[in-house]
This record gives sequence, C-alpha cells and structure tokens, in this order.
Amino acid sequence: MSQDKDAARLRELREKIHYHDYRYYVLDDPEIEDAAYDTLYRELKALEAAHPELDDPNSPTRRVGGTVLPAFTSKPHRMRMYSLDNAMTEAEWLDFVTRAANKLEKEGVPFERTFWVDPKFDGLALEIIYENGVYAGALTRGDGETGEDVTENVRTVKNVPLDLRPHAARSGLPVPRLLEVRGEVVMTRQDFYELNERQREQGGKVFANPRNAAAGSVRQLDSAVSATRPLTFFTYGVGTTDFGDADPGWATHSGVMRGLAALGLPVAGEGKAVSEAEVYPYFTAMGARRQELPFEIDGVVVKVDSLALQRELDFTDRAPRFAIALKFPAHEAETALTAIDVQVGRTGVLTPVAILEPVSLAGVTVSRATLHNEDEIKAKDLRAGDTVVVRRAGDVIPEVVRVVTEKRPADAREYAFPHICPSCGSPAVRAEGEAAWRCVNFACPAMLRRGIAYFVSKSGLDIEGLGRKWVESLIDKGMVRTPADLFGLTEADLVPLERMAEKSAANFVAAVDAARKNATLSKLIAALGIRQVGTRTARTLAGHFTDLDALGAATAEELTALPDIGPEVAASIREFFGNDANRALVARFKEIGLWPVAAPKPAQPAATTALAGKKFLFTGTLPDMSREKAQELVEAAGGRVVSAVSKKLDYLVAGAEPGSKLAKAQALGVRILSPEEFHALLAAAGATVQSRRSLLDA
Ligand code: IVH
Repeated sequence: MSQDKDAARLRELREKIHYHDYRYYVLDDPEIEDAAYDTLYRELKALEAAHPELDDPNSPTRRVGGTVLPAFTSKPHRMRMYSLDNAMTEAEWLDFVTRAANKLEKEGVPFERTFWVDPKFDGLALEIIYENGVYAGALTRGDGETGEDVTENVRTVKNVPLDLRPHAARSGLPVPRLLEVRGEVVMTRQDFYELNERQREQGGKVFANPRNAAAGSVRQLDSAVSATRPLTFFTYGVGTTDFGDADPGWATHSGVMRGLAALGLPVAGEGKAVSEAEVYPYFTAMGARRQELPFEIDGVVVKVDSLALQRELDFTDRAPRFAIALKFPAHEAETALTAIDVQVGRTGVLTPVAILEPVSLAGVTVSRATLHNEDEIKAKDLRAGDTVVVRRAGDVIPEVVRVVTEKRPADAREYAFPHICPSCGSPAVRAEGEAAWRCVNFACPAMLRRGIAYFVSKSGLDIEGLGRKWVESLIDKGMVRTPADLFGLTEADLVPLERMAEKSAANFVAAVDAARKNATLSKLIAALGIRQVGTRTARTLAGHFTDLDALGAATAEELTALPDIGPEVAASIREFFGNDANRALVARFKEIGLWPVAAPKPAQPAATTALAGKKFLFTGTLPDMSREKAQELVEAAGGRVVSAVSKKLDYLVAGAEPGSKLAKAQALGVRILSPEEFHALLAAAGATVQSRRSLLDA
C-alpha cells in the first residue's frame, strides 16, 4: 500500500470518525451502527500504528488521553472571563432591566429589548481555543484573568469538536483564525450516578454532586483518567474571535450561538431569543422542568441579544451589565443526624450513611444521605446527635452540607470509623492511596448478598420475581454461595423455606431457567459486576467477543482497541478473569448451560425495521413492563430513547398518570402513543419480548 494512499485514507478516517462522534455526542442522532463505527475506529488505529509519522494530537483515537502532567500550568486569558451578577427575585430582574435602560438612555442609544436566555449550567467554566479551525487548547476560568491549562484533558471530552473545518465547509461559515469558545463542562445526573458507583466499588474518590465530579474530572493530572470520566461540554458564548477578512455576520448573541452550533460546537437546545415579557416566564418554566433535564442547572442566564448593545453596556469591575443570572432558590434544610450507619457493598467497600430525622426537601422526604467515606466524615466533623444542613440539588441524592456547630450537644463524641466489617466482623483494610475501607473476606455474607442481588437485578440478568429478600434468605441458609448456585435449585429445595409456597417455588425455578436460556452475552457480562463494566461497556464487549471464554482470553491491547475502553477498564476486566474463583464461576456457567454465544452482527441489523433511528420517550406507567424493558425493546429494534421532549422526538409513549412531558409533546405536535399502540409498533418492528434475545445479541 503506497504511502500517499495510506495518508489519504488516514485523513478520511479521521474526518469520518470525527463526523460520527459529532452525530453521536453532539446531535444525539447517530447515523451508523456501533459495529460499523468500531470497524472504522479499528482501521484508523491500525493505520496510525503503521504510520507513526502521521501522528496528530487531534486524531479521534487520542480522546483516550495518556499524557501525565507533573502539575498544571497557569495561563492568562486573552479576554477576561467575568462572573455574573445574580437576581433572586422578579424585582431584582426588573431592576437589572431598568439599570440597562437608564444607561442606554444616557448614551442616547435605543434599547432593543430582545434577550438570549439559556440555562445556567452547574459545572466548571472553560475556555476552549481553536486556531485555524483546529483544537489548540483549553483553560479553566481560574480567577478570570488566568486559568489552568487543561488542554490534554479537555481533548478527551467526547462532545468537544477537535476540528471545526469540515463543519465550516458544510455550513458555509468562514474558518476562524482564532476562536475562543466559552462554556461549562458538566456531568449528567445519570453519568454521575454511574461514575460514583464505580468509584465506590474501587475505593476511589466519591463525588458529592455532579459539579464536583465534573470539576474533579477536568482537573486530573493524568489525562487517561479524565478520558474515563463521562463529561459533557455546553457552549454559552465566545471570548476573542478573529475571522481575518471574512465576516461570520455575528450581530446578535443568538447569531453567535447559531454560528457556534454550525461550527460543530455543542449548544444546549434550551437556549433561545425572547422578548422582555417572556424572560421571567422562561425562568419559571425552566424551574419547573429542572428535574427533567439530564444535567443540573442552578438558574437561567439572560443576556441582551444585540452585540452592539452589549458593547455599549459594557462591564463593571466584576460582571457584565448586559447579562444577569436568575437563580433558583437552593433546597436546604436543617435536621438531626441521628446516627452514622455503615453498609457493605458488592465489592466489600464500607460506605457510611447518615441516618437523618426525616425532613422535607423540595417535596421529597429525606431520611438518609450517603457520606461517601471516612475522610468525608472527618472533614465535616460529623457526629451522631449533630444538627446538620442537608441539601438536595436537582434530584440528586441528598447530601449533608455541614454541621450547625452552635447546636452541637455537649456530649457529642467524635465519630470513629469502624475498622471491622459490620457484616462479618473480619478486619477491614484501607489500602494506600484509597479512600475506602474494605472488607476483604470473600465469603462475607454482605458482599455475597450484594453481588448476587446485582447479578439478578435489572442491571444484570433481570430474573423476574427474584427479589432481594429471597436472595438474602437463600444465602443465609447456605443454599447459594455463588450466582451459579441459583441455577441448580429445585422446587424440592425451595418448598421447605418459609413463605415459599409450592406455586412460587415453581415460578422461581421457571424464572431462573428462563433466565438461563434467554441470557444474552451482554446481560451476562454486565451481571458479573466487573468493576467499571456497566451495561454500555458490556454491550460493546458482547459486540466483539463470541462468549465469556473469548472475553476472558482477551489481551489488554485487544480490549483497548475497542471504543470507550481505556487502560483502566481493560485492567479491571483482566483482573476479573485472572481471579481463580471468578474463572471457576465462569466454568460453572458453561457446565450448567448459562452460556450465551453472540453471533456476528448481520450487515444491517435493525436498520430495516420500522423503528430504525426513531426517537422515543416515556411518561407515566406502562401497564405491563418496566421502563427499562421498554427501553431495551426500543433499542433492540433500532430505535432510541431520549431524555427530554423536543420537536425531534418521534413518539411519546404515555402510560397511566403521565407527567408534564405529555402536554409539552402535544404542544409540539409529537405523535403520542398509548401503551397498546406502542405494543403494536413493536410487533410491527418484529420486536417482541420473546425475540428480544435474538435482537439484542444479533
Ligand atoms: S454567560 C460575561 N451563560 O456562570 C458573561 N455563564 O456566575 C459570561 N455559566 O463563570 C457568562 N451557565 O461559567 C453564561 N448559560 C450561561 C452559563 C454561564 C453557566 C457560568 C459561567 C460563569 C458563571 C457566572
């Protein structure tokens, strides 16, 4: 193969993969199947390995990171990054408008009262710099004058475009010589839960809220670590721009935002230009929708839309006079910390939990809050009997913010974290560099319980009717020591158990047997509970390995060649299969016929079905299946489940007691399906509950 031909193919592959990343991560509207994407990705990796001279730090394969810095360097911003003034009430918003109007009147400039409104993202402010259309670096806001250079880490953020030129070409915009894009890096709630779950299992740092998780993930010296963190960037404006002699025609902030979106930058769909009268209703509506958004916001930002007026209004020492943040009130309350409980997780991590006097926060009664680990309790000096401030940000797990020390009882004693496992009494260990204490007794009943409960849960094999209570009593009776034991149970074994009538014993055995026969490889991989391997990674793995033996034999190189699998995940998979007990478990699965084999993907899976590429959303309760199952069926048939109502939504499936999504979808003219119509559509697409297996692993 000639050098030139390889170089051309390499360029083409990079551009294609950038484009598909954009479809997937920015537009949330992929054009190709995962398998086709993987093929491109692997071809690029192979070509890059053969041609080190064609290296490019902005190749899509570089999103996995790898550079380790001794420390961050600070760098000045070309243009200062200001902060924003806040308005907590409608009166304060009106004052802002009056101040702006007065200033403009003094200058004799007419006030065109159009405003750009968008969410106030609760994350970490960033400036991303593009030179000649190519990613050239990123700085945190810092003190506004100088920030930290986080270039290597931000390169790993999947929805940050690394090359604007193809977007400029497609949209007819000039390629800027210099473009400083400003925005906020956040973590979605879902990603935050999943990250914390993984961190907890590994004894790593557990984050108090999505903002801390986002900030902590950007500020990592090892960019390979940042790369494993699920970060999302949202653009809200620009710093310095230089288009040379070309004119992008940006006269308003709305124009800038449209232009940035056309250049491939992620712009949240919630932003829009409104009249003065529409601003406060937008703020109120956003407050009501807050929980439905996939990410946390703490208010709304309002900017005068005209850039000429922005220049006229200018800045105070601290903040622009043309923009203001309308903030939501924080949901905080004081309550008593009655006790600190310690729970043992699936991987043995001891997690402290605050037991609270029940208190209502934003309409939800809160009686427990996770305390993460020993250091967290020490740092906050929490003691049983204390009065504490609890906060609920969005719908995120409530957190204990601080102690009200003035109210501390005189006899409150400093908390001592237990150094023995509260479940089995064996000594716990805290490894060097880890935040967590762990029980390392592999036979610890709490660990067995959690591990098996996870195996049968929705995240795992989803064995119907096999509740946690049953798992617990089967383990306590010594009848189940590993997940494989579940499959050997007979009705005769079960009937003597308390509360187990013959009928339910039969159902139980049938459910377990059905799970064995219907298990898909991706479900089984997920069920193993390998650290860092959730549903999504399990699906990627099942797409590449035919069975558990093949996965167990995979080298770190083979694993990291797959998209989204970095060195840490690969190491954790290797560690799992390197363990004798785990290998014995896998061997038993094979013996008992719990052995799904993935067939190679057909050329056009699902793409020919009626649901291919269709976007779905659910509201209310479906009579006959869980949301998870409905989502699985939609995905298996080639459709997608999205998180919010928009014009792009194809179907809203409305079950019993639908929420506010229904009215919104109706207003936007989105097709509404009853549960019956949804079933009919699935049946037409060939997706029935029975055939789910073939669709999923096909
Ligand atoms: S505009 C000159 N828009 O809020 C005005 N800021 O409190 C620049 N923020 O550090 C800010 N969402 O990082 C703007 N939609 C949004 C925002 C936003 C979040 C952050 C921003 C800034 C902070 C100021």
